Order: sequence, then C-alpha cells, then structure tokens
Amino acid sequence: MEPASITTSLPSLQATPAAAAVGGLVFSVYFVKRFMVDKKKANNSHLRLVPEVPGLPVIGNLLQLKEKKPHKTFANWAETYGPIYSIKTGSSSVVVLNTTDVVKEAMVTKFSSISTRKLSRALSVLTQDKTMVAMSDYDDFHKMVKRHVLANLLSPSAQKRLRSQRDIMVDNTATQFQAHAKFHPEKALNFRKVFESELFGLSMRQAIGKDVQSIYVEELGTTVSREEIFKTLVLDPMDGAIEVDWRDFFPSLSWIPNPSFEEKIEQMHYRRQAVMSALIAEQKQRIASGEVIDCFVDYLLAEGKNLTDLQISMLIWETIAETSDTTLVSSEWAMYELAKNPDTQERLLRQIQAVCGSDEVSEQHLSKLPYLSAIFHETLRRHSPVPVIPLRHVDVDTELGGYHVPAGTQIAINLYGCNMDSKQWDNPDEWLPERFLGGGSDPMELHKTMAFGSGKRACAGALQAMLIVCTSIGRMVQQFEWHLKEGEVDNVDTVSLTARKLDPLHVLIKPRS
Ligand code: HEM
Repeated sequence: MEPASITTSLPSLQATPAAAAVGGLVFSVYFVKRFMVDKKKANNSHLRLVPEVPGLPVIGNLLQLKEKKPHKTFANWAETYGPIYSIKTGSSSVVVLNTTDVVKEAMVTKFSSISTRKLSRALSVLTQDKTMVAMSDYDDFHKMVKRHVLANLLSPSAQKRLRSQRDIMVDNTATQFQAHAKFHPEKALNFRKVFESELFGLSMRQAIGKDVQSIYVEELGTTVSREEIFKTLVLDPMDGAIEVDWRDFFPSLSWIPNPSFEEKIEQMHYRRQAVMSALIAEQKQRIASGEVIDCFVDYLLAEGKNLTDLQISMLIWETIAETSDTTLVSSEWAMYELAKNPDTQERLLRQIQAVCGSDEVSEQHLSKLPYLSAIFHETLRRHSPVPVIPLRHVDVDTELGGYHVPAGTQIAINLYGCNMDSKQWDNPDEWLPERFLGGGSDPMELHKTMAFGSGKRACAGALQAMLIVCTSIGRMVQQFEWHLKEGEVDNVDTVSLTARKLDPLHVLIKPRS
C-alpha cells in the first residue's frame, strides 16, 4: 500500500496541544459516559476486561503518543501491560494487539465482527469516503473494485502479463547505478532518488500506460512537472493521512470549526483530483484516437461501466500510490541492511552466481534463490513497512485473546510489536535472514511476519511487491558491491505512515568485475 501502501495510518492516535485545550469542556461528559460504559461492560460479559494503560482524564493517553511513532510506544507498553491492552484517545477506546496469535484471531477468526473502519477526518477526505480497495468496508463495492484491480493488475496472471514493465524498471535502475559508478565512483549514491523515480515510472505505466513527464492541469491553470505529479499523487497524501484534527478524538465537538486543518486537507485532495482528471482526460483522448494500451485506465474505462468518474480516478490513483510507496520502503531498508552486512551480501552473491551464472538476475530465478527470499522476509520483519494497520472498528461485542471487547472499540494491530516480540523471535533487534531459511519456501513460514496482513483483507499487491523488491535486490548485489556512506549506520530514524527511512539511504557502490 497497507498502500501502504496508503493502506496504513494511525492518524487518530497522535496528540495535539489542542486536545488539552478542549479538555475542560468535556470533562464532566467524560465521567458520566465512563460510568455508563463500565456498567454496561460488567453487565454484558463474564469475560475479563482488557487491561488499561493509565492516562489522564479526558485526553486519556494522547499526550503519551505525541512523538508520532505509535508502533514503538505500543511495543513498550506491551512489556508492562501485556500483549493486549486498551488505551484512551480522547473519547475513544482503542484495544492494541501486539502478539501474532491474537492478531490472527482479530484478522481471520473474528473478522466478521471487526471488518469496518471509522476514518479520521483526514482519511475521510483523502479516501473520498472509502472510495478505495484498501480502505473500503468489506461490502459489495469492495468486492467489485478488488475484482477489477486483481483482474487487470495484481493477480498472478496479470503480473505475468505485466512482467516486461517491471523488467524495464529494474534495467533502468541498474543503468542509472552503472552511470553513477562510472562518472562519480567516489561519490555516495542517493539510492532513493533513483529507485523511487523508477518505481513511480512503473506505477504510471501500469496505471495510465505512460510515464508522463509533465501535464497541463486546467483546474490549476498551470503545467505540472513529473516531480510535482509525484509529490501531489504520492508524497502529499501520505503526509496528509497522518494529519491530526483534534475533533477526531472528541466527536461530540465536531461542530467547532477547524478551518486551517480543513483547508490543508481539502487542498491536497483538490490538487490530487485535478492532476488525476488531467491525466485521465489525456488517456481518454488517446483511446478516442484509436490507440489502446494494456493498462489499468484502459481496462477500467472499458470494463467498469458502472463506476463513476470519481471512483475510476480514485482507483487509478490508489494503484499509483501503493506501487510507489511500500515497495520503496522495503527495498531501501533491504539495501541498507545488505550494505551494512558484507557477509550476508557475499553469501547472497555466491548463491546468485551458482544459480544465474553469467545471466542477469531476473524473475524466473527467484524461486531458486531462497536466501534472497529470506532477506526480503527478514527485512519485512525488522522494518515492518506497515507498522500499524489502520484502525479497525468492533461492530458487535466480541472476545479477543480471552478478553471482552465491547462494540464501538477501535482495534490497533501493531505488526511492529508482533515482529519485535522476543517470545516469538530470538534476538528480534537483529536483522538475520538465516531465521527464514529453516522452513524452506513454505509460504506459512515465510508469511509469519504478517507484513502483508492476513485473512480477507490481506495485501492484494504482495506478489508485485515481492517480484520488484527481490529482483531489484538480486540485480543490485550481482552488479555492485555495496557499502554504507560514513555516518549512515545509525541513520535509522523513520517517518510517515509506512516506516519510511527518515533520510534517504546513501551508499558507495563499486561495480563487480
Ligand atoms: C512491501 C510492500 C507492501 C506491504 C508491506 C503491504 C502491506 C499491506 C497490508 C498490511 C495490508 C492490509 C491492511 C489491512 O488489513 O487493513 C495491505 C492491503 C492492501 N495492499 Fe498492500 N502492501 C505492500 C505493497 C502493495 C502494493 C505494491 C500494492 C498494489 C500495487 C498493494 C495493494 C494493496 C491493496 C489493494 C490492499 C487492500 C486489500 C483488501 O483490502 O482487500 N500493496 N497491504
């Protein structure tokens, strides 16, 4: 996505100073409500109540979450309060799950009771009220649009059909790295700058058939460059998705206006929509002139006759954002770890040489490269690209991990917490691909990180992500020796909703002879 993918955020868990300001106003309402809820819980169930992390009256635990890395705070709390506990974010209760068994129970066994989401204000605007595969409720709309995206883009047969697009992306990336190594051998390479741009090009070719270099956008009255298109379609919505409106925490105060927040998010949506409309209009003209391309927009315009213009635009935008983000995040962390661990790099190189000989690594080799697969899965574990799955909503009273969870509660699934759980993983802080070699290519063994989610809402783009990341890593290690730039080892801070590396990875690369 999740989109990550756009598929992930925890916007309603980040505190704002404004949250405290409105505290007094709702203080008394809080206690009356709290008393009634507790009474209801006690009446309704013989099960234990989920342990609570102590917080402040009215604002609950909001101030403890203000550092904007909820996955880490959640994992720390799990050490004190156990793997399942509840927190308060203003007037909402959130139950946080930090252990694989209970997460599976929530995502698979109890899915029917926990299948919807209550979106933050930012996400409501940016998803246009759930007009996306990843953020829709599990309803007829979801089934229909998921069928479309699988049919044209993400199913195994569609991925097979689209392979040449990915080959172009990997070749272009390698060519740029070669040019860098030739002309600037002593200079550190900004890995992200090259990889992100090529990935975006791939996402555009798959979505609209063309890697657009610039476009005139009538609603904005200007020509927008490729760089600005990327910012408008990918970077801004990702940042917007974690924007906080204090009214998310206190729905009863929704009537109070928050114009600066509204304007910022509406602007983001307006610009994105304007750019998408221009891109789609250009493709409609192309189709009208008789030129048809194998891409998602051509497919949707032909097959999605019952979809509105907005729905078509949102679905196309969704695939661009999802392809461009989480795949970069995992590739960048994988190359960071490989550059930091020369022995692992060497072991991978030896396997590649044994399997590929003098051929370039490509997708048909992947099934014969188990160490490459182990590197991919260990990277997803250690650097979960979607650290916390976007909040799910409990629709009816349910039981989770032996606890009573009342309807109306929100559920935060902390994949980062599961993947750093020392009861499940030895030395979880260490990046150690060998831990994924034991189970061979057993998919259950490989997917125990749950990086792609689980159950009915598991990631639809997992195959595409695996193909791109593994082929790219394989090719990059086959062709170059990778070293971290000085000072890069400790540069591991993350940002945004998909655990992006805060600073782009800088590496020294040396062509292998
Ligand atoms: C390493 C890369 C990726 C990771 C770690 C990842 C992770 C996830 C996760 C955890 C979910 C489930 C969210 C939930 O349960 O609410 C998800 C859903 C989804 N992802 Fe991904 N994703 C990745 C790449 C992609 C790509 C490349 C695409 C498409 C181009 C994509 C498309 C989707 C879609 C459409 C869904 C929603 C599926 C549904 O709701 O039925 N993802 N992803």
